[in-house]
Amino acid sequence: MQKYIGTATSRVDGIAKVTGAAKYAAEFNVPNLAHASLVCSTIAKGRITRIDTGAATNIKGVLAVLTHENRPPMADKDQAYKDDVAPDGSPYRPLYDGKVLFDGQPVALVVAETAEIARHAASLVRVEYEKEPHVTSIYGERDTADPIKPPASPTEALFVPPKARGTPDRALAAAAVRHEAEYYVPIEHHNPMELYASTVIYEAGGKLTVYDKTQGVQNVHAYLCGVFGMRPEDVRVMSPYMGGGFGSGLRPQFQAVLAVLAARALQRSVRVVLTRPQMYALGYRPAMIQSIALGANSGGTLDAIAHDAVTITSQYEQFHRQETGWSGLLYKYANAKYAHRLVQLDLPTPCDMRAPSAAPALFALESAMDELAVALKHDPLELRLRCYSDRDQHDDRPYSSKALRECYRQGAEAFGWTKRTPEPRSMRDGSDLIGWGMATGVWEALQVPITVRIALTANGHAEVSCATSDIGTGTYTIMAQVAADMLGLPLENISIKLGDSSLPQSPVEGGSWIAVSVANGIATTAQAIRDELLHLAKQVPNSPLAHAAPEDVLLADSKLASRSTPSHAVSIADAMRRGAVDRIEREMTTNPAEDHTRAHNAHSAIFAEVKVDEQLGVVRVTRVVSAVAAGRILNPKTAGSQILGGVVWGIGMALHEETTIDHRLGRIMNANIAEYHVPVHADVHDIKVIFVDETDDSNPLGIKGVGEIGIVGVAAAVANAVYHATGKRVRDLPVTLDKLLG
Ligand code: MOS
Repeated sequence: MQKYIGTATSRVDGIAKVTGAAKYAAEFNVPNLAHASLVCSTIAKGRITRIDTGAATNIKGVLAVLTHENRPPMADKDQAYKDDVAPDGSPYRPLYDGKVLFDGQPVALVVAETAEIARHAASLVRVEYEKEPHVTSIYGERDTADPIKPPASPTEALFVPPKARGTPDRALAAAAVRHEAEYYVPIEHHNPMELYASTVIYEAGGKLTVYDKTQGVQNVHAYLCGVFGMRPEDVRVMSPYMGGGFGSGLRPQFQAVLAVLAARALQRSVRVVLTRPQMYALGYRPAMIQSIALGANSGGTLDAIAHDAVTITSQYEQFHRQETGWSGLLYKYANAKYAHRLVQLDLPTPCDMRAPSAAPALFALESAMDELAVALKHDPLELRLRCYSDRDQHDDRPYSSKALRECYRQGAEAFGWTKRTPEPRSMRDGSDLIGWGMATGVWEALQVPITVRIALTANGHAEVSCATSDIGTGTYTIMAQVAADMLGLPLENISIKLGDSSLPQSPVEGGSWIAVSVANGIATTAQAIRDELLHLAKQVPNSPLAHAAPEDVLLADSKLASRSTPSHAVSIADAMRRGAVDRIEREMTTNPAEDHTRAHNAHSAIFAEVKVDEQLGVVRVTRVVSAVAAGRILNPKTAGSQILGGVVWGIGMALHEETTIDHRLGRIMNANIAEYHVPVHADVHDIKVIFVDETDDSNPLGIKGVGEIGIVGVAAAVANAVYHATGKRVRDLPVTLDKLLG
């Protein structure tokens, strides 16, 4: 029975959130809590020669100043610092030794009775360094870029460029129409609203409860056990709510290590809250230079592509994703080659940021497609339809589903695309130039192994638990919806427990894979509950279900009922009373079906309108339509919010966001949200989200994720609209007014 799945349901945690009852990592209080503040390096590379902690230690209320010289023991092998999603390399170890690997690296931690004392005392710590020459510019170092190394781990193997097809060089040389250009996406930072924080509760005997801001409590749990040599049962990591992660909380972050270090050193509960500027050292979307060459044949369709990406990483880890191959999932062409090289800089290791690789790669690809359409004198949408591929070109296999044509059709219709006049600068509204642009989006539809426990009580309530996080996306809500339907109970009878490392296994919440994984996980466990209820129901005198097989019954309206004869039913309460059980508990692991014969992706079509002030070059994105095909939508309200948020972020990527570095200092110059620009209310106008019907049988519930697809392609749609408005092609993000004037 599906009463809740597919309906627009308000967040079950909404009231807790708006009333402040929902607690975040820095909001858990215990008596005698100490507060810690970081001292961070002011050089990008070198070695600490001396740390003078005298002035800080003399402040009343300061409990300790921890540095690499006096910290408690930590593991000395790389393996201990590797987390579930660590790239190849040697992970950064907070306060481990005197080496400085990046500007803003924690070099000391001041622990005090209050946060104010800690912060003041931290400002008094004097650190002397021996500097070494550093490099922080992708353009400065691009000649040193190395092809990505053969992957050391199986996960990393997913992130190598696809193999070449056909004879790309010959095809490009012979192309009737060729477009070749270089595109740039700068470093961008996640800037979630909630500050990174860890509150470590120190219990007698040294057991720790760590309230941490993270996208993966079990990832942090295993990591902390490794780094501090603690037994798993002595550490519990909790993250019941998270005020945005977007990838920045996939790996354990340094505030958790520092808080645990301090708690162990002082044998006392400790909280560390990072400041906004300190969060700029946690990770970022890597800067990316892409060259794309497209060749079209005389018939006006795509024949060849060469896609070459250069991205940045740190000196100590090789972070990269599969940036170059997205074209092969969208368009049909016989000849292709891909290359990916890495530049190592004296910066922290980059990390995943919403739709990692796809968001920047599709800015380049979809800008290039727009440029090819101009060169071919085709409508941009028409070109995409001509090149449409019904197969994954890399592995020559079909899709489990791909309703992208329908995204194009419904998106174009809702936008009014047919009224577009092709010439740049041909549409106006008073002193504003109007531009209409479009782009395609694509993301992966992934499912991961997950374990779900359900405890059903005779009063018709169920508790559903899993260690997954809800990073703000609505996981509590969709879990409750699915459980209510699968157990045939009212939504309000379901309680959800998540974000606790002691709960059944879940990987990090990322990759848009949790909704599909946990929903199907709930379905599996609910089936086991149903089977047990049927066993009990058969024992009811004259049971109407005496001969029913498990697959013939379903749970609906608090009853177990025959599918074929719904009047044959036994209430959950009666079945449990009969069996004299007041609680049924099941815990099951659900693994994704192995299906390598088909490609699994979510798709979108984005249409954007910009108005550009002709004299001032000010760009406003006045309308966006995003049509998304992502399988069955569990909750149009929360899913719609995900896409809306992705579109807003895409506007930021297009027009505002850029982390700037002073390369002489190797330091980020706008490490704050006053100077790191993001779209604000006045930048966001009319956004329409369409979910296109799509049936997919890759998993029993037919779900794909929607966390990341929303941002993909948006920046290109906006930049293409700016070109249509002004005739100026901006290939380096963000599209700021100085690039449009002159
Ligand atoms: Mo997402 S970048 O995997 O949190």
